[in-house]
Amino acid sequence: MSHVSSVSNNAASPALPAGFRVSVAPMMEWTDRHCRSFHRLLSRQAWLYTEMVTAQAIAHGDLDHLLGRGEEGERVVLQLGGNDPQLLARAAREGVAYGYDEINLNCGCPSDRVREGAFGACLMAEPQRVADCVAAMQAVVPVPVTVKHRIGIDRHEDYAFVYRFVETVAAAGCRRFIVHARNAWLDGLDPKANREIPPLRYAVVHRLAQDFSHCAFELNGGLQDLAMGLAVATDPAHAASVPSAKVGAPSSTPAVPAMAGAPVAVPAVDPVHLESLTALAAARRPLQPLTGLMYGRKAYHEPWLLAGVDAWLAAHAEVDEAFVSGLRGVIDEPPSAVTRASVASSAAALPEGNAALTRAAVVDALVGYLERGAAQGVELRHLARHVLGLYHGQPAARIWRRQLSDPQALARNDPQWLRTVCAQVEAEAARQAERLAGREG
Ligand SMILES: Cc1cc2nc3c(=O)[nH]c(=O)nc-3n(C[C@H](O)[C@H](O)[C@H](O)COP(=O)(O)O)c2cc1C
Repeated sequence: MSHVSSVSNNAASPALPAGFRVSVAPMMEWTDRHCRSFHRLLSRQAWLYTEMVTAQAIAHGDLDHLLGRGEEGERVVLQLGGNDPQLLARAAREGVAYGYDEINLNCGCPSDRVREGAFGACLMAEPQRVADCVAAMQAVVPVPVTVKHRIGIDRHEDYAFVYRFVETVAAAGCRRFIVHARNAWLDGLDPKANREIPPLRYAVVHRLAQDFSHCAFELNGGLQDLAMGLAVATDPAHAASVPSAKVGAPSSTPAVPAMAGAPVAVPAVDPVHLESLTALAAARRPLQPLTGLMYGRKAYHEPWLLAGVDAWLAAHAEVDEAFVSGLRGVIDEPPSAVTRASVASSAAALPEGNAALTRAAVVDALVGYLERGAAQGVELRHLARHVLGLYHGQPAARIWRRQLSDPQALARNDPQWLRTVCAQVEAEAARQAERLAGREG
């Protein structure tokens, strides 16, 4: 039995801007090269992020181990962690040599380890340092340097804080921001709780998109599926509902927790934004739409979501001249020549556009990936944990998960085992379907 991906092409759907991206979030221990190679089989268009790699590690570690590529081809972003402009610049250069299409700086991770190193989310309290880091990297690499951040840190929910962060970093040349739409509570919550407890506030991301119309904003956090993403990205109500108490407030100096020295002064937000937000609500569409959606846990645990991405983009993304001209060079930046030259885009051939992609075809491609990688030490166990969710929500999914978690089976390291299990799953699913049909008949 095959399960064909399909996305309805609803002509009445709101359109997304040209160049709109769907990406898979950077996730430590999850989005390694094997995971990315698997995700690429599901979507040609999705942008795939590495796990965070620290600039320190790149300065002292094994580069092939840290930066080596799988078969994920183009549209791959290297996420760096660090706070030293020169170290980051060096790391970014190494990243480009390994063919990454963009460099992203992590300003959103709240873990203790990252805090001790004084980077990740706590960098949001030092916008000028982030700006210096971005400028140093941008000076030495031909690819875009982007920033992933939160909407605030600790319990400070003042829009002016994130406004000033983006303003300062954008002034250094950053043109793409990936915004995890919740605060990072650095005062006691662990990273897992920090992905769940601080409330999501999508409106802040829309608000940033209105206020910095020369920049691209990608929204992250809590997205469950593509339909929800479309609603979140296009509903002007989200953009118009930023707490207005902050809008047009007199110039203030909110108690921003600075890492060193006195709290930073935050400029007042121009009252004109209120007008633009009202116009936006009237237009029933964000004046300045978001330019992307980033999926984290859902994409990892339910990867078939990605099988719908290419058709979904084709159905919903449009060419919007006004928008494109405003953001030229940001959203339609081609992958760098360096990338094209240095990375063989060797993702296994699958149906164009993934129109008729099946899980069985993906399994076949994974077997090929393992067989080609064997000489470089790629083993079944490296891949198996990332593909456990391939049959999520399908009949007999449990067989797939159980067999692919079996240590003895993994130790045999036989790529063909994937095909065997796939056949078992599909046969059991067919049996279940027949039983059901029998009962109904
Ligand atoms: C296991 C795990 C590891 C993560 N590692 C990173 C990381 O290295 N860098 C980063 O910026 N965010 C990291 N994140 C956060 C995600 O990128 C993302 O922002 C977060 O999960 C919210 O998106 P979601 O609700 O779609 O999962 C991690 C998340 C998870 C679940």
